[in-house]
Amino acid sequence: MPNNTLPGPTGLVLKYILLGLGTQNYTCATPGSSAAPGTTGAKATLYDLGTKLSTDPFAKWKINTIPTLALSLSSYSPVLSSWLAVSGYSTILGKHFFTSAMVPTFSLDNVPPPPFPQVNGKKNGTMTAPIYSCPGTTNEGAVPWLKLIDAGGSQSGVNTVYRLVTAGGSAPATCENIQTTIFEVPYAAEYWIYGILTA
Ligand SMILES: *[C@@H]1O[C@H](CO)[C@@H](O)[C@H](O)[C@H]1NC(C)=O
Repeated sequence: MPNNTLPGPTGLVLKYILLGLGTQNYTCATPGSSAAPGTTGAKATLYDLGTKLSTDPFAKWKINTIPTLALSLSSYSPVLSSWLAVSGYSTILGKHFFTSAMVPTFSLDNVPPPPFPQVNGKKNGTMTAPIYSCPGTTNEGAVPWLKLIDAGGSQSGVNTVYRLVTAGGSAPATCENIQTTIFEVPYAAEYWIYGILTA
């Protein structure tokens, strides 16, 4: 894992390394006001990095840059698709979203056989993104690195998620320059998914 100060994945095994590319979602009840935005979670597509990186002698260095590259290319979708394809990262394993009860969920619904792996998470640690992190498409700042553990109902041997190497995604401090009651901020991150050792 990239260096971090989050509590470790004691006793667990690494199952997936995913690229998450999507948006952090926020609200401004009163657009244009000095109030701080609220959050309604996030939405991201989850691409398989681990399969390719596990045999790549450059993996240790690439893991520090992949989300930044993905975010920088995300507004040029043909270029993003080509880069994902030539890099070996184009397999989509599932999606990240928040339930209506605001549970951060990671559904690897493209992983056979059913039931597919899923983590229903809750925060178990947070750290400010390192100073060198990519601040995002509008210089808003990188969202914190996190450890999430099972909030109940995670399935198929996975139960812990680390959000690392974040790029962008932060809300502005206030709603002053926001014109809508809901808004999205593009972000990318790596999700390192751990679980129990199975035979
Ligand atoms: C993280 O989870 C462990 C195990 O459930 C718990 O003991 C600890 O208090 C949690 N820490 C935070 C910051 O939530």
